[in-house]
Amino acid sequence: MAKATIILDPAFVVGKTDPRLFGSFVEHLGRCVYGGIFEPGHPTADTEGFRQDVMELVRELGVTVVRYPGGNFVSGYNWEDGVGPVDQRPRRRELAWFSTETNAFGTNEFMSWCAKARLEPMMAVNLGTRGADEARELLEYCNVEGGTALSDLRHQHGHPSPHGVKLWCLGNEMDAPWQIGAKTAVEYGTLARESAKLMRWLQPDIELVACGSSSRSMATFAEWERVVLEETFDVVEYISLHGYFSKHGDKSRDFMAEADLVGRYIDEIVAVADGVAARRRSSKRIMLSFDEWNVWYRTRDRATRTKPGWPEAPAILEELFTMEDALVFGAALLTLINRCDRVKAACVAQLVNVIGLIMTETGGRAWRQPIFYPFKHASDWAQGTVLDMRLTCGTFTASNGDQFPDIVSAAVLADGGKSLSLFCVNRNFDQPIDLVLSLRGMELRKLLESRVMRSEDLNATNTADDPERVKPVRGPNAAIRDGAWQLTIPPASWSVFRFSSLPRSAEASST
Ligand code: AHR
Repeated sequence: MAKATIILDPAFVVGKTDPRLFGSFVEHLGRCVYGGIFEPGHPTADTEGFRQDVMELVRELGVTVVRYPGGNFVSGYNWEDGVGPVDQRPRRRELAWFSTETNAFGTNEFMSWCAKARLEPMMAVNLGTRGADEARELLEYCNVEGGTALSDLRHQHGHPSPHGVKLWCLGNEMDAPWQIGAKTAVEYGTLARESAKLMRWLQPDIELVACGSSSRSMATFAEWERVVLEETFDVVEYISLHGYFSKHGDKSRDFMAEADLVGRYIDEIVAVADGVAARRRSSKRIMLSFDEWNVWYRTRDRATRTKPGWPEAPAILEELFTMEDALVFGAALLTLINRCDRVKAACVAQLVNVIGLIMTETGGRAWRQPIFYPFKHASDWAQGTVLDMRLTCGTFTASNGDQFPDIVSAAVLADGGKSLSLFCVNRNFDQPIDLVLSLRGMELRKLLESRVMRSEDLNATNTADDPERVKPVRGPNAAIRDGAWQLTIPPASWSVFRFSSLPRSAEASST
């Protein structure tokens, strides 16, 4: 059996997780909105058309914040199309996904859905075809109490209470050639700065996210962030990161290693942001909003990304995730948690159907994808203080010769320090790993519970007819042997252990 050691000391912490780390994303894309969260006429739909089967799964998932309405969609979206009497809203040919947008769902429906799902809205403004003034107008419509033209319009539309949206994205992936209204870094940086200025004059306490690169592989990566932050440093709190992980051919090891790029990506953007701060001799730290991340490769090429004939809510980007995907997903999630000192928001792209945590049949059933479970475990048990662990374990070699650790792990002191959650992904497909916990300055009194998710078939998926093929079960066990906690982590698995914990000094004084 392979061996590994984790050293933990509560004196050494990374930081506290921001609840917004456990966010997701709803875009007007495919069946994410229509046939996903919203489907009037569905047997479970409430009076507003919100599917209650999906709503229950969203609550179970523990999502804290949802980004809306895009994505690429937002860069051609007129928010005015989606408010007011539904029968007067325009149908449009939508150029991000070549679909027909009915506008039956818009800003007020989204806010109402967020309130029912008990989560925070994160809005994006259109800086593709529109500009600073429309961004300011949407903020006025959403957040001003009343007594102005646009806030009074919201009252007329049946929403007297302001929506109180705090977190705003200044556009989406504006560096990308596929983006409607793509810009150079200087063009975007200038527009983002002016939009931020107006929005902040209207409401000083909003939080703003500037667009970083649409991926780490863009030719302008890092230089884009530098230029954008030179323009916007004084008026934004966050820069965005987007990362999708791909499997090429049957290269499972390379696929596993994709998650490690998340850590590298974070380090690089922190370096760029702090470099911009250094040039200004500023102590301000720009935080990171990893507001699109997931595994995505089966439904990504141009041919599968759109359907001909301008359909309404086509079934596109409907990635059926496997157990193997859940390992990469889990490892990326733990990396985000381990960088909670700088990553203050993160959104899994996306919530339902479109590269989704949840799948539905239009008019029918809803079920959990394998990636649902690592996310749920983390939102349930990873909110707290992340410990700066030291991990020693075996490695695997990717096809470029780089070595990667077999284990990705995170340790979080939760419940005000009364419990410790230990999360592990074992990327060794052949052997279980015997993991020894070396504890300094703390005791783990007892194992409260544990969960493990694995499958003999790494390609196993969940479907409407077999919705629980991949799911976690109770176990594995953890025991004290030779004076130390020892855990056995099965091969190719996601696992979580929850212990009751006590600082060592408290232990001494309580006995
Ligand atoms: O999440 C799918 C798409 O991926 C988003 O619309 C876009 O921002 C990204 O390229």
